[in-house]
Parts: sequence; structure tokens; C-alpha cells
Amino acid sequence: MVAIIQDVSEMQRAAESLRTAGKRIGIVPTMGYLHEGHLSLIRTAKHHADVVVTTIFVNPKQFGPAEDYERYPRDLSNDSLLASSAGTDYIFAPESKSMYPNEYLTDVHIERYSSILEGRSRPGHFQGVATVVTKLLNITKPHVAVFGQKDAQQAVVIRQMLRDLNYDIELVIAPTVREADGLALSSRNSYLSTEERKQAPVLFQSLNLAEQRVREGVRVSVRIINEMSEFITNRSAGVIDYISIADSNTLEELSAIEGQRSVLISLAVRFGATRLIDNQIVKV
Ligand code: PAJ
Repeated sequence: MVAIIQDVSEMQRAAESLRTAGKRIGIVPTMGYLHEGHLSLIRTAKHHADVVVTTIFVNPKQFGPAEDYERYPRDLSNDSLLASSAGTDYIFAPESKSMYPNEYLTDVHIERYSSILEGRSRPGHFQGVATVVTKLLNITKPHVAVFGQKDAQQAVVIRQMLRDLNYDIELVIAPTVREADGLALSSRNSYLSTEERKQAPVLFQSLNLAEQRVREGVRVSVRIINEMSEFITNRSAGVIDYISIADSNTLEELSAIEGQRSVLISLAVRFGATRLIDNQIVKV
């Protein structure tokens, strides 16, 4: 049976006893409303650890003032069933006030990566992510942490943070899980209307188109980006926030693909009030 822990000190004590017993701890940080993407991370964590802790916390710090913190979907009892069926041993689901009590003052900021791409559209977002992940690592004391490629920039930010802050933690990035029509699973897909849901696979389709162009030898980014943009606009009511072709290690945007062995093609598109992101690493 899965153990659900809400108290920070209790989770720290449980993690400490697991470490003392020689167990390898894996963490899967999530904001809940779990889907098959999250569950695949839990299964991956099981392969890398003896004991898996899934954290479920809708982190207020990573939402902008105009974003969906209040209406972000929450369902802890169903999440517990799903996480436990995927093999998690612990669920850590703290309350907001125990993570950020009134006297809370500390933030973790990662230079450069925090202000480009997603960070440009969502100021403060990665600071919120880095801060909560730091806290979750200090609370659950893992040996290995599993994140999804779905949030490519988040993975880069966390990798940098673990390196910079000398965390002795293995980072595993798991592939994006998709619906049959290519739409990347996301808790935010639940916001989409029937019509928007029908159109949403254009993100994945446009990434495939871009990959095909790179394969064909197109090297000028703007040509690929324009074609993706036209593809999306012609086939959906989606409003493009950004489309980017960047170095997959440094996230530096590339005006031309020259000498890179792989590039990260990423995009954010709004359907009404719902903002969807997706990406693909394309080998050159
Ligand atoms: P959340 O959006 O709930 O995602 C939790 C983890 O699941 C992230 O590592 C994300 O990349 C991964 N994930 C989401 N959709 C996926 C999919 N379709 N396939 C594979 N993995 C997927 O990311 C966050 O929460 C938060 O920012 C968090 C790291 C928990 C900090 O609050």
C-alpha cells in the first residue's frame, strides 16, 4: 500500500530511515492530476531506485499572476490510486502553507536559462520551479530524480541546478508520452473544448514537419519556423506564442543549423485560455 505523507518533517524522517536502511530513493516531482506521462516517470523511477516517492504539489511560486494556479486541476484521491498502481511507494503531498509559511524568504534563481523561451513568456516561472524542486529534494533526499522531456527547458534548468549546487543526485529524463493522435499528455489538456482538442495535435504534426525539413537538408531556421507557423495557423485556431530552434544543450537559439549534432525544436501555442507546449529533439 502506498503511504501518503503531507507533513514535511515526517517525509524527511521517512527518507532518512530509508537511507539508513541502504535503500536507493527515486523522486518523481509532479503537480498532480496524474496521467500516463507521469505514470511512465514513476515506472522509470522504479527501474532506477528501490523506493519511489511521487510528490504532488501545485506550486504557487511557478504560476504568474494571470496564470491558472487557482483552476489548475486537483484530484489527490484518484492520483493516489494511479500513482500506487504505477508502483510508487510514497506520495508526498504537502499543503501550500507548510511549503511556504508566512516567513518564507528564499528563492533559487538560475541565470540565463530562466529568461529565454518559456522563461520569456512566463517571467519568474523557472525561479518558482527551481525553488520548489530544491525544497522537494531536501525533503525527500533522493538518489535519483526523474523528469519528463515534455518540459525540455525545465529538464535543462534542473540539470544546471543539480550541477551548480553540487547535488549528488542522478538525473533521468524520460521520453514524452503522447495520445494516439500525437498530442502530448498534459494535465492542462483537460481545459480544451472538443473542437480545440481536435485541433491540438497540430503541435506534434508541426514538429514532425520540421523534423522532415531538417532531414531534407533545410538549415535556415526561419524557413522551418515559418512553415510550422503556417501549418498551425492554417489548420487550427491556435495562436502561436513562440516557435524556436535551439541548441539542445545550451538552448541558444540558432538562426541556422550549422555543426550541431542535434537541435531542440520547441513551441508554445494558445487555444483560447489554454497554453500548450511541445518539443522534439531532432538529430541533424
Ligand atoms: P507537471 O506538469 O505535473 O509534470 C511533472 C513531470 O511529468 C515533469 O517532469 C514533466 O516533464 C513530466 N511530464 C508531463 N507530461 C508528460 C508527458 N506527456 N510525457 C512524459 N512526461 C511528462 O513539471 C511540473 O509538474 C512542475 O514544474 C514540477 C517539476 C513538479 C515543479 O513544480
